[in-house]
Amino acid sequence: MPRPTQLPAWRALQEHYQELRDLHLRDLFDQDPQRFRRFSLMLEDALLFDYSKNRISARTMQLLVRLAEEAGLRAKIDAMFAGEKINRTEDRAVLHVALRNRSHRPICVDGDDVMPGVNAVLEKMRDFSRQVRTGAWRGHTGKPMRALVNIGIGGSDLGPLMVCEALRHYADPGLSVHFVSNVDGTHLAETLKGLDAETTLFIVASKTFTTQETLANATSARAWLIDALGDDQAVARHFVALSTNTEKVVEFGIDAANMFEFWDWVGGRYSLWSAIGTSIAVALGFERFEELLEGAFEVDEHFRSAPFAANIPVIMGLLGIWYTDFFAAESHAILPYEQYLHRFPAYFQQGDMESNGKRVTLDGESVDYPTGPIIWGEPGTNGQHAFYQLIHQGTRLIPCDFLAGALSHNPLGEHHPILLSNFLAQTEALMRGKTEAEARAELEAEGKSAAAVAALLPHKVFPGNRPTNSLLYRKLTPRTLGMLIALYEHKVFVQGAIWNINSFDQWGVELGKQLARAILPELHGEGALGSHDSSTRALIELCRKWRRD
Ligand code: F6P
Repeated sequence: MPRPTQLPAWRALQEHYQELRDLHLRDLFDQDPQRFRRFSLMLEDALLFDYSKNRISARTMQLLVRLAEEAGLRAKIDAMFAGEKINRTEDRAVLHVALRNRSHRPICVDGDDVMPGVNAVLEKMRDFSRQVRTGAWRGHTGKPMRALVNIGIGGSDLGPLMVCEALRHYADPGLSVHFVSNVDGTHLAETLKGLDAETTLFIVASKTFTTQETLANATSARAWLIDALGDDQAVARHFVALSTNTEKVVEFGIDAANMFEFWDWVGGRYSLWSAIGTSIAVALGFERFEELLEGAFEVDEHFRSAPFAANIPVIMGLLGIWYTDFFAAESHAILPYEQYLHRFPAYFQQGDMESNGKRVTLDGESVDYPTGPIIWGEPGTNGQHAFYQLIHQGTRLIPCDFLAGALSHNPLGEHHPILLSNFLAQTEALMRGKTEAEARAELEAEGKSAAAVAALLPHKVFPGNRPTNSLLYRKLTPRTLGMLIALYEHKVFVQGAIWNINSFDQWGVELGKQLARAILPELHGEGALGSHDSSTRALIELCRKWRRD
C-alpha cells in the first residue's frame, strides 16, 4: 500500500485544511440549520453519535471517506472478519469479533472454524459462573464463595475491571469483586486485608501465563491461601486460570480442568469478550455477559456493513485522523458523564495507545506522519474542576468525546439533570466560546470600570471552535456498554488501517521487561553491577544502600 500521505485524498485534505482551519464552528452552525441532522447518526435507537460539533464541512467528510476508500479500508475490514492473519509481526489472526459472533456463522483460522471452540468456552463460563453465584461451587472447607479476586494486568485486568465497574448496578451484592494488577505488593496486601480465605476465589488471568507481575501476585496469593487454610490441596477449589497456555497453568499448580481457554488470535487488549471475561460473568451473571456480547455484535454488524459515510466507528476514526494529522492535535480526551464509566478512559488508554502507538508501517518503514494520539480523560463533572480550563483556554487543540446516558440507574433528586446539563453546556461552550464583545458586555453589565474591563477582557474570552463528539445513549445497560466498547475498538482499527501500521502487536513493551529482568538480581546482589549509564547505576546503588541500612 502507498503511504497514506501519497494518496490523492490525503493531498486533497491538506489543501482543504487550509480553507477550513479558519472557519468557526459557531458560524458553521449559524449558516446551516440542518447541521445536526447532517452530521449525526443513530444506532439501534440506543445510541446517538453526534459529530456535528467538529471542524468539518460536507466536503471534509467526502474527502475523509475517500481517504478510507483509497487506503483500502473495506478490504482490511473484510480481512479481519475473515480471520486472515493481519497481525503480521506475530503471524496471527485478529478475531475478537468471533468471540461475540452471535450469528455463529463459521469464522475460520487456518481452515478451521473457531466458533465451536468459542461456544464451548462460553458454555463452560456459563456453568462456572452459575455455580459460584448460586453457592454450588464450594471452597476447600465447604463454604460458598463471597469474594472474587481477579489477578491480571493490562488487557487481563483493565477490561474486566472497567466492565465490572461500569455494570456495578447489576452486581450481586453478596459477592465482593477485587482486581489486583500492580506488582507492588501493596496492591495484593491491601486487597487481602479483610478477606476470608475460606470464601475467596482467585481468578488468575493471563494470556501468556508468563507475565512477571501476574505470576508474582498469584504466587503470593496462593501462599496466603495455603497459609490460612493449612493445606496446599486448597488451591484446587480456590484458584482458576484464564489463559492460552495450559502448560504454564499446570506448572503453576492449577488443574487444567479449572482453566478457561482462549486463543492466540485474541489480543490481550481485546480479550474481555473471551475467557478473560470470566470475572465479569461471575460478578454480574452470565446473562449480562451475553448481553454485553450482543451489544458488541450489533456494532460489528454495523461496522462491516454500513457505508463509510454512515458508519460510526469509521467516522470516529476518520475524525481522529483529521485532527491528528492535519490539525496536529496530540491528544484525545474521553470524558464520560457517567460515574460507572470511570475506568473507560483508562481502558482505552491501553486499547488505543498500545494498538496505535507505532512508528513504522506494516512494511517496517518509518512513518512520516503522526499516528496514535495520547488518550486520557476522567469522568465529568470532576474533570470540569480539574483540567477543562486547559481544554477551553489553553494553547492546544484537544478533541474530546463526551459520553452520557439520558437515564440514570440512580435517579437521585436533581443529580442526573444537573449532570446532563453540565455535559450539554460543556460541548456547547467548547463549540461556541465567548467572543470579546460578549465578554465585554458581561463585564460592563457587572458595573466594572473601563480600566478593569480592559484588564480583564483577554482573560474572559473563550476562543471556542474546540471539537467534540457526543455519544448519548439511553441508559448504561450491558448491551449499551458492549456497543460503546466495540465502537472504540473499531475506531482504533480504522485509524491503524489508514496509517498502515500494525494495531495488534506491542513490541514496545518488551525492552523495559528485558532490562528489569537483568536489574532484579543486581538489586539483591552485593557484587559489581552490570553495564549501566551513570544515572541508572547511581539509582541502583542508592536502592541497595537504603534497603541494606
Ligand atoms: O505488556 C503488555 C501486555 O502484553 C499486554 O498487551 C497484555 O494485555 C498484558 O501485557 C498482560 O499479558 P498477559 O495476559 O499475557 O499476562
